[in-house]
Amino acid sequence: MSAAAPLGALTVEDFLARHWQRTACHIPGAIPGFEPPLDEHDLAGLACEPDANARLVAGRYPDHDWRVRHGPFEESVFAGLGAQHWTLLVQDVEKHYPPLQSFLARFRFLPQWRLDDLMISYAVTGGSVGPHVDQYDVFLFQASGRRRWQIATTFDPALVPDCPLRVLAQFTPEQEWVLAAGDLLYLPPGIAHHGVALEPGMTWSVGLRAPSAAELLIALGEELALTPGEGGRYRDPPLAPGPRAGEITTPALQGLAALLDAELTGRVDFPDFAGRFLTRFRLAQEPEPRPAPVGTGEVERRLRSGARVARNPWTRLAWIEERGRARLYAAGARYPCSLDLAAWLCDPDGPGPLPQALADDDLAALSALLNDGHLRFRER
Ligand code: SIN
Ligand code: CO
Repeated sequence: MSAAAPLGALTVEDFLARHWQRTACHIPGAIPGFEPPLDEHDLAGLACEPDANARLVAGRYPDHDWRVRHGPFEESVFAGLGAQHWTLLVQDVEKHYPPLQSFLARFRFLPQWRLDDLMISYAVTGGSVGPHVDQYDVFLFQASGRRRWQIATTFDPALVPDCPLRVLAQFTPEQEWVLAAGDLLYLPPGIAHHGVALEPGMTWSVGLRAPSAAELLIALGEELALTPGEGGRYRDPPLAPGPRAGEITTPALQGLAALLDAELTGRVDFPDFAGRFLTRFRLAQEPEPRPAPVGTGEVERRLRSGARVARNPWTRLAWIEERGRARLYAAGARYPCSLDLAAWLCDPDGPGPLPQALADDDLAALSALLNDGHLRFRER
């Protein structure tokens, strides 16, 4: 699964045209000979770190005896788990182990801002998190062992009551595959799926993120609430005497809708809002500012003498083109710069050696990104 053929025998064009956000797609041998650079012991170690987002799920379908424990865990917890029917799941693994960012880089054929995280689950035989439905697209890559995945496009959405997990009470599979090491399964949002480990092994899930209208409107509303005038206020249309008691008239409703419309399509700098919102959206951890700030002079001197920079793995970075320049956003803040600098900083393989001469505002953007903790100088 090189960058050139990230989906095995399936071309990216075919995948995007036929499957993306539409239908499930099973790709056997997507990464032949894959050797996971971490094992279940590394994953368990990570699940014990104070800032790890980890869960232990035990139970089975259809018994619905689900139990969930949230990390960080004590090491001793793993000794008492037994040989069957449990799964350890850890999110944001590529942020804790930055070399795993190269796994996400395989998905560079998708818009980068849509990628959320790499979640790794290790399941013993019979381990499962139950049949469920996700709101987001997911690529399920079998890194080791075998796991059987069953899916259904039509299903009863009723969940198991009083359950610590969102598990479907009933699940009748329509299709199933047994994924072995190196196989990949893509699932669009809204498909019921149920994975059960046939033997101990790891699934690497590349999760996508997509904001809902509610999330966008709440964020926009919170911003508007902080502006003078709160984005305008309802004013009456021409009124006639003698309104019917209690009625909200059609012109009044139109006036209310026009107020929202004016904010969304007119007054708000929507690209700026979107850039700030999307680089904050589902941000798991805010980067820490640098303790000792660097000035543009020092940044230039160090870069010219061959220093390299690395992105903070927690920072979400994205840019929007505007009149031949980039509005670059990092974790909700804006850093105007050249298109070249933005593309260089967002390279899925990480920023390489500096490719071009830097403009003054590029140096300003770089030192601000370094000082705000979104970039750091790499050790050589
Ligand atoms: C798992 O890794 O077992 C769960 C992943 C998922 O269903 O999205
Ligand atoms: Co799922």
